[in-house]
Amino acid sequence: MAEKEETDPKTQPKSDSENVGVNAQKVLDGLNEFLDPSFLGNFMRERLHLSDDVDESGKQVLDEVSVEGVARYIKDNKCKNIITMAGAGISTSAGIPDFRSEGSGLYDNLQKYNLPCPEAIFTIDYFHENPKPFFVLAKELFPGTLTPTPCHYFIRMLHDKGLLLRHYTQNIDTLERISGLPDDKVVEAHGTFHTSHCLTCKKQYTLEWMKEKIFSDVVPQCEETDCEGVVKPDIVFFGEALPKRFADCVGPDFENCDLLIIMGTSLKVQPFASLSSRVSKDCPRLYINLQAADPAPAGFLAFFMPTSSFDFDSEKKYRDVFKQATCDDGCQQLADLIGWGKELKTLIKTETEKINKENAKSEKPEKVKAV
Ligand code: OAD
Repeated sequence: MAEKEETDPKTQPKSDSENVGVNAQKVLDGLNEFLDPSFLGNFMRERLHLSDDVDESGKQVLDEVSVEGVARYIKDNKCKNIITMAGAGISTSAGIPDFRSEGSGLYDNLQKYNLPCPEAIFTIDYFHENPKPFFVLAKELFPGTLTPTPCHYFIRMLHDKGLLLRHYTQNIDTLERISGLPDDKVVEAHGTFHTSHCLTCKKQYTLEWMKEKIFSDVVPQCEETDCEGVVKPDIVFFGEALPKRFADCVGPDFENCDLLIIMGTSLKVQPFASLSSRVSKDCPRLYINLQAADPAPAGFLAFFMPTSSFDFDSEKKYRDVFKQATCDDGCQQLADLIGWGKELKTLIKTETEKINKENAKSEKPEKVKAV
């Protein structure tokens, strides 16, 4: 199974165990499981320029390469298997910081933890050495009330309309599930906070148990007799395998995808970022984000991972659309253009009221702002 790899060499952790040989072997082992044989074959043919198909472009299925064109493509029932790919940017309006935004991103605000590099806080080798900073941060970030954003409800609406093939998320905040997406529609590529396991004996613990430990300011330790292993939430750290479900779903899903919508991610972390190149060459790709991203991998991975370069601007562009906006605004605009705008607003209102009611029933009610 693929391991989560940061592809920006400037941000690679620099511990002794991260030497090139070990990393190269890890990456190759991971790739063996992640890439199915036909994909690997095609990919190598392309990279070694052995492909018979000289013209690498696909055909244009949008009547116009724009958000309006994508909206008409959906409205005219020309797509039925939409995949959404998301990152931290879809949850910032719920009050959860992203990782790499300058100033507000988590990685710009970890100085007090004295880390060798910001990513160390989510790196498994560092966690084995010193788990404390992760749990201090987990306490700081533990959300009081989990409130899905308008963007989450847009994804839910795609599902309600029978158009969502799958939602792939790098987020561990579970907001997709809270918004009402069924479990089988979500692939949590970087794991979840919902369950935890002892790193030594693998005993499973619940979110409530973990929350109690985190708020008691202790590093959670296994309660099995003779086991004092550290218990870690099941989120995927750098250097750990991605969930099996990710590998199981990716192949068939991306082969069948007829519209890819990517939202709120810098596309800096592999193998997630390169998923965007696994759709067919005809498949339109809409990227809604505050900033444009160049997702092409750098360094060692540049050869082995498929590039995900988009063509948003050239004269040859035929399927890639970049909408520079917040995910919430981008989704609302798309919904308006399709003719779902009012329905989306109603869904948000109804669901938010439901969450407020549930909170009111609980011991410490916290009001969720209507969006
Ligand atoms: P990043 O912080 O790398 O990227 C978030 C992107 O969302 C940035 O390009 C922002 O400009 C954009 N953004 C922020 N707020 C937005 C908004 N309201 N609307 C639209 N765009 C917005 O986060 P990810 O790409 O999710 O792994 O990061 C991927 C992985 O790197 C994470 O899963 C995490 C991290 O290391 C872990 O190890 C936990």
